[in-house]
This record gives sequence, structure tokens and C-alpha cells, in this order.
Amino acid sequence: MAHPHAAPGSEPAIVVEGLVKRYGSVTAVDGISFTVARGETFGLLGPNGAGKTTTLEIIEGLRKPDGGRVFVGGVDALAEPKRARALMGVQLQEAGLFDLLTVAETIRLFSRFHYRRADERMLLARLQLEDKANARVGTLSGGQRQRLSIALALVNDPEVVFLDEPTTGLDPQARRNLWDVIRSIREDGRTIVLTTHYMDEAETLCDRVAIVDHGRLIALDTPGALIRRYAPGVRIHLTPPDGRAAVLAEALRPLPGVTQVAVDDQGEVVVYTSSFEETIAALVRLGSDGAIRYQSLRVEAANLEDVFLHLTGRRLRD
Ligand SMILES: Nc1ncnc2c1ncn2[C@@H]1O[C@H](COP(=O)(O)OP(=O)(O)O)[C@@H](O)[C@H]1O
Ligand SMILES: [Mg+2]
Repeated sequence: MAHPHAAPGSEPAIVVEGLVKRYGSVTAVDGISFTVARGETFGLLGPNGAGKTTTLEIIEGLRKPDGGRVFVGGVDALAEPKRARALMGVQLQEAGLFDLLTVAETIRLFSRFHYRRADERMLLARLQLEDKANARVGTLSGGQRQRLSIALALVNDPEVVFLDEPTTGLDPQARRNLWDVIRSIREDGRTIVLTTHYMDEAETLCDRVAIVDHGRLIALDTPGALIRRYAPGVRIHLTPPDGRAAVLAEALRPLPGVTQVAVDDQGEVVVYTSSFEETIAALVRLGSDGAIRYQSLRVEAANLEDVFLHLTGRRLRD
């Protein structure tokens, strides 16, 4: 059955309505709704335990929700899980790989489970694994294993690809590499839904980001719009003289443009401003007058971490 709200031929890739999942007294997913357009890269961003994996696995048909509806490619995924699953590619968790098989053998093995199959050479090239085709899985680096697990999500040439924390545990080089791979999957025209607790990953890869906390969707928009709405302007970091962070923070609160002042876990004083020039001019003037003292100053653009901080009062990672 097609989704009732969709015009013929223009169904969104995914519609999720009022999803609820409880584990005993824990409500892991607490009424999440969103729509993903075809060809969109959509991110679920939130801290550990937010309910991202549970949401993803319900859409994938791996867990049964306590409430809500899911449509994938217009197919009611709860009523017709097999039809829905044929449209999806799900990244295999690392534990599911067999160390003694080669990369090519692994791809062939997983291809057999599907009626529709992607070309093996294309997959190896797309995942930058051509020179590893005959290497045993057990000899691969962390980044190569992760790329293989994504190759396995593409063996059935799916319309929608699900990636759960695709770069967790990788070094910076391997992460960047994987970002390129994900972009190339997007360029195929596929829809991608990924979860991450890395704000930079969400910002660089996703067309739209749903910020999830305690099983609820607390904001949803493009990264740029989220930042403009919830964390406009820039962030100025000042290193105070030893033990003087609180005094410096108090002195900065009344400066022109300042919207918020905090002391972060590094002991730096962080100033949010809506008027960068005015605030910096005041800082420099007061500094040279000796009215305030700081050892160094640096300016950064606000990001999705600031958005999360604004919305929840907490950081994404701790
Ligand atoms: N199988 C399960 N049994 C009991 N509680 C679970 C189970 N899976 C997840 N949870 C709980 O549900 C909440 C959301 O978990 P999860 O979806 O894994 O979050 P995330 O992927 O955002 O880290 C957490 O509180 C987690 O402990
Ligand atoms: Mg998770």
C-alpha cells in the first residue's frame, strides 16, 4: 500500500510516524516522526543512548515498535517487511564478518542472499577495495573493514542505505576516506540515512539533520539552518590567567553583542556573540586598558555541537 499522503510517483524515500519503542521502564524511542526525501542524505545526530540505533533498526525491520508507522519507498514496512527490505541496504556490524574469507568471497556470499545484485567490480571500486579483493578479511585495517561492511550494504543495489555510526573508532584519515565513499554513494542517487554522534560528520555529509535526545526528535533542519536558528554568530575562546576564569567570565557578560558566556571543561572562557566586530573591539579595548586580562584569544564559527548545547544544556560527547 502506498503512503496515504504521497502523490502518485512522488513518495518520499522514508516516512516515519510517531515511532515508540519501550524496553521495560525505558522508553528508547518516544514518538519520533520524520520524512526523508529521495536522494537525500539524512542524519540522526545525538549522544549515546539517544535512541538512534533503535530508530534505525525499526525502519530496517530488525525490531518491532510498540507504536507508529514506517513507510519505505511507499511500502508499509511493518505490514510488508519483505517488500520493504528489498529496497534497503543495511550496513553489517563488524562482528558479522568472517576473518578467513577474502573480500571478494565475502561480497559474493552476501550477494547470494539477494535477488537483485550489484556488480562486484563496481562495488570493489566504489569502496576503494580493488587491491584488497583477494585479501582475507582478518588482515584488513579498521577503515578497510568498515568499507567492506558498507560494500555489503550495497550488494542488492538498494534505493535506501542505512549506516549506523559509520566512522566510530576510525582514525582521522580513515574517517575522511569513508566520508568520500558515503558522498559517492549519494552521487549514485541513493537515499542515505546515517546515525552519528560526531557533529562534524553530520554537518559535512547530511542534507538535513534530526537531533535526537532521550528518544525524542528535538530539532530537524539543514545543518546551516540549525546553526543560524540556535547558535547564530561566532564563539570566542579566551584563556584566562590561572584561576581567574570565573572573574573573566563575569567581566565579559555585559560586553556589546555578547549573548552567552560559559567556562568550558578546559578552563577556557567561551563567549557567544551576535556581533563579532563589536565584541572583539570591546575585548581588545578592555584588554589594553588592563580592565580585563586574558592570555590568548581565538575565534571559531558555531557548529552543531553549539546547537545541541543550546537545546539541551549538555555536550554531545560526555
Ligand atoms: N535490547 C535492549 N534492551 C533494553 N534496553 C535497550 C535495548 N536496546 C537499547 N536499549 C536502551 O534504549 C536506549 C536507546 O538505545 P540506542 O537506540 O542504542 O541509542 P543510540 O544508538 O542513540 O546510542 C538506551 O537507553 C539503551 O540502553
Ligand atoms: Mg547506536
